[in-house]
Amino acid sequence: MQPIIAVQRISKCFQRGNAVLRDVSFSIDKGEMVALIGASGSGKSTLIRAVAGLTAIDRPRDGVTGSISVFGLRIQNGAGAIKAPKNIRMRIGVIFQQFNLVPRLSVLTNVCLGLLGRLPVIQGTLGRFNEADQRKAMDALSRVGMAEHALKRGVDLSGGQQQRAAIARCLVQQAEVLIADEPIASLDPGSARRVVDTLADMNRRDGITVIVSLHQVEYALKYCPRTIALKAGRIVYDGPSSALSLATLSEIYGAEAGDLFLPSLQQQSAPPAAQAKAPAIVSAAQILQERATFNTLAAARPLYVPPPESRLHA
Ligand SMILES: Nc1ncnc2c1ncn2[C@@H]1O[C@H](COP(=O)(O)OP(=O)(O)OP(=O)(O)O)[C@@H](O)[C@H]1O
Ligand SMILES: [Mg+2]
Repeated sequence: MQPIIAVQRISKCFQRGNAVLRDVSFSIDKGEMVALIGASGSGKSTLIRAVAGLTAIDRPRDGVTGSISVFGLRIQNGAGAIKAPKNIRMRIGVIFQQFNLVPRLSVLTNVCLGLLGRLPVIQGTLGRFNEADQRKAMDALSRVGMAEHALKRGVDLSGGQQQRAAIARCLVQQAEVLIADEPIASLDPGSARRVVDTLADMNRRDGITVIVSLHQVEYALKYCPRTIALKAGRIVYDGPSSALSLATLSEIYGAEAGDLFLPSLQQQSAPPAAQAKAPAIVSAAQILQERATFNTLAAARPLYVPPPESRLHA
């Protein structure tokens, strides 16, 4: 089967001698849900933008020609220009950390905007959406649990609601690939979970291929069967999320490692017994190990909550 996304040997330098992506290659099959992780500045957004056709990759150098193909069509080959015709762009939905909705338009109209590329030019230009269009948008909003907010303005939604409305717009757009760049970075844990749940639901029920960059590793472990990790523009891990080792996480994040997990999970993953036995100075690696163990369990059984008694007697 042909991969839905094929990235081959791409590099990106914004300034001479300062590579942001270095010889990056991977391919993603239809229906996968892949997490992209890495410390701040490792190149996640640049990679996502390149795959979405928003950033041009470097020209061929030292005999290496990078390329990006989506749906079997080469959209970049280092020739400077991005060749993503509208019918290809329509099949890719992109969600950013923020600024996904037009603030002053209603949520319903924002979701209808996903139809623009599919409407006759004149209708799209006028932004007039007929009843059938609006019904499609309402269906999509219902899917993401946002029907009751349809008539609010984009600006009046919470961050998590805005993200779910943006996902509804991608549904209306009939995107087959959804690329989300840190969609939960500025959300509280409850809203973040709802947004990632929604992405996972799109992936599972609609077969939409999802690539999502995430700062919090537990979401990658829990929701995404596969993780690609970047460090200083290179892929340092590409494989099952369940096999991400503590050593790899520590290597990827270095000094940032201590910030990777949510406070709620930090508490759950540091059982009292372990705390009692812990030496005075607990290294970041030890903390990570406990969290990784908890997250692996959580990934295997999403509702698993370690019973406190058994931990005390462990
Ligand atoms: N348009 C640009 N011009 C110059 N440098 C850029 C540009 N975009 C990104 N960079 C640089 O490229 C590097 C990687 O940035 P990128 O945004 O891809 O990282 P990231 O992994 O998404 O980080 P974060 O987790 O903070 O979002 C950074 O050093 C950044 O300053
Ligand atoms: Mg980024």
